[in-house]
Amino acid sequence: MDTGQLRNRLSRAGQDHLLQFWEELTEPQRRELFRELEAMDFEELNGFFRRAMDGSDQAAGQGKVDDARMEAVPRDILGSTSRDREELDAWEREGLLHISQSRVAVLLLAGGQGTRLGVAYPKGMYDVGLPSHKTLFQIQAERILKLQRLAEERLGRQCTIPWYIMTSGRTMESTQEFFSKHRHFGLKKENVIFFQQGMLPAMGFDGKIILEEKSKVSMAPDGNGGLYRALAAQNIVEDMERRGIWSVHVYCVDNILVKVADPRFIGFCVQKGADCGAKVVEKTNPTEPVGVVCRVDGVYQVVEYSEIALGTAQRRGADGRLLFNSGNIANHFFTVPFLRDVVRIHEPQLQHHVAQKKIPCVDPRGQPVKPDKPNGIKMEKFVFDIFQFAKTFVVFEVLREDEFSPLKNAESQNGKDNPTTARHALMSLHHCWVLNAGGHFVDENGSRLPAIPRSATRGRSEFISADANHNLKDANDLPIQCEISPLISYAGEGLETYVAGKEFRAPLIIDENGVRELVENGI
Ligand code: UD1
Repeated sequence: MDTGQLRNRLSRAGQDHLLQFWEELTEPQRRELFRELEAMDFEELNGFFRRAMDGSDQAAGQGKVDDARMEAVPRDILGSTSRDREELDAWEREGLLHISQSRVAVLLLAGGQGTRLGVAYPKGMYDVGLPSHKTLFQIQAERILKLQRLAEERLGRQCTIPWYIMTSGRTMESTQEFFSKHRHFGLKKENVIFFQQGMLPAMGFDGKIILEEKSKVSMAPDGNGGLYRALAAQNIVEDMERRGIWSVHVYCVDNILVKVADPRFIGFCVQKGADCGAKVVEKTNPTEPVGVVCRVDGVYQVVEYSEIALGTAQRRGADGRLLFNSGNIANHFFTVPFLRDVVRIHEPQLQHHVAQKKIPCVDPRGQPVKPDKPNGIKMEKFVFDIFQFAKTFVVFEVLREDEFSPLKNAESQNGKDNPTTARHALMSLHHCWVLNAGGHFVDENGSRLPAIPRSATRGRSEFISADANHNLKDANDLPIQCEISPLISYAGEGLETYVAGKEFRAPLIIDENGVRELVENGI
């Protein structure tokens, strides 16, 4: 251990306080701290801090972006599953063609710490309490498997959708173990590629790196935009090129309804000649924690929910809808050439965003402190910050009830975006699929439960389940319990043989073992 050299580097960077407890440490603690600090580039970290703080100071209104600089997404770059119905089949065919040619990959951002959900393991391992008890990882894996099969059936070619999974130092080991234990959920091991994002130390408002313990720096993943540095460090773009991948669907782990490698979205982006695209749902509540896709100073980007001024978020157009209503659901399309340029050229220009946090630390005597107000910042890059470099950027609007129900919070918190809402959203969607395929549900007396047609724009053959409309529920105020395995249907297709003209009593499961009405209730 060359502590002399380390001390010099620390002192040059104004970070020498990191060794203030050195004399009190045991030998293993010293080795651990030395190893951690040796790997850090303090000048680079100081630079990140200065640029991040300057960036947040410069943004108008104390770190908030306001509408003087923002423009909503124009219609000419927008595709919509409800307004462009006549185009949907063509987009789907195009997407499936690309998938069948093994030109599409999916990339999961799973390096987050799941702080709000409050579990000690990766979020993808969470079981929201569906009848099948499938985890988020399993649901996504089975959707990939099904989509491969659909593309093969429709286009007569065997294909692969590689699944890249970004983890962090905190989630890598347990994620990999979980996949091994479950034999990669039926996917080929070589087509599930794990890689790890970087970590950054938390810093005080004065730019000093924070010690969490006497011998331990406070570290956190560098945000989901840490993706691009990780792609470069682990040669992932090269791996994509070697496999002949042309486009990648990047998404977050927590959305139970996510349509991985959605052929319509892929086909839409490809047909528009886009190198970069974002899926959105209509944001209806000004304070909903979703970013909005828009132009800022003429450049496409997402203004994150933490960075938009409240007055701006509340602005409404003449039709009463929010002016900035393209709610980011963290589903992005990138071509591989675009990613290559980002990784080689643009990544260093990406600035960290600043999140003020209450960061557990030690006081000058080395005593642990749990602050009750923010005492420093975490620096994160965001995955969507590369939109600004796109040559052709497009936006794809989908229906919330079909595609977006994120798992963010623990059960007890405010009743939003929690395991119950995720479970209900999935079962409610599957209920619709059964109705659309000509099946019916009956109550305990054998009377048919009502099905409400979706609004005219969504097509006359589509029904919305009572729960999705939030106005009609069963006696226990629960949605109809219905779960369809992704291995049976990716997006509601192919269910007629199972359900058309039949009546069911919930809970209903349709999976590889057939159609089953579960006797017991209380899910
Ligand atoms: C994210 C979006 C927000 C969007 C919302 C929709 C970003 C920066 N924000 O917000 O615009 O409206 O989802 O649900 O994308 N992750 C990493 N590494 C990290 C941090 C996070 O891989 O260092 C992953 C998480 O595992 C998760 C995803 O990124 O899959 C989103 O992280 P989360 O913190 O939940 O984002 P939100 O704040 O909800």
